[in-house]
Amino acid sequence: MDRGSEGIIAIIGFMGAGKSTVGALLASRLGMVFVDLDEAIVSRSRKSINEIFAEEGERGFREREHEALRLELEEGSKVISCGGGVVLREDNARMLRDKARVYLLKISKEEAIERLAGGGERPLLEGDDPGETVRILMEERAERYLEAAHEVIEADEMGPEEIAEEIAARWRKYRS
Ligand code: S3P
Repeated sequence: MDRGSEGIIAIIGFMGAGKSTVGALLASRLGMVFVDLDEAIVSRSRKSINEIFAEEGERGFREREHEALRLELEEGSKVISCGGGVVLREDNARMLRDKARVYLLKISKEEAIERLAGGGERPLLEGDDPGETVRILMEERAERYLEAAHEVIEADEMGPEEIAEEIAARWRKYRS
């Protein structure tokens, strides 16, 4: 029986790892619904990520992120691309591991710094030295990403299509 489109796949990793692009490609490959968790937060709160951080602080954003994740993991078959900080809460990591198959897109600090140099809506990187912030955050989070993940994809040298194909293959194997 083909159960390849049943279940929840979660994609985690640092900002710039390609989670949203890969998640959308993967979902269409597997014929599954795609959910970008940041977008779900934005549409539920009717505020941009920047506005949430400015008005409610990181703390407010993390609350919204936790609630959005909880709701998305409640039911259905889907691919969820999570924001880079989702693993900061222990309960999020636990929920993810329990309810989804979790794939970590792992990139090096150098790669992250290069990819994030173009900007984007990332309030955590708005200080004077975004490169240094990336280094600090990645070091703080490295262990948490590994603990939350079932499988790791070394993504530095891979394009989004290739990563989606790799995850689809691993997922089908896992489900068979
Ligand atoms: C964050 C990552 C962002 C977004 C928010 C916080 C983080 O998502 O959720 O700005 O703490 O790493 P992306 O990883 O999709 O950029």
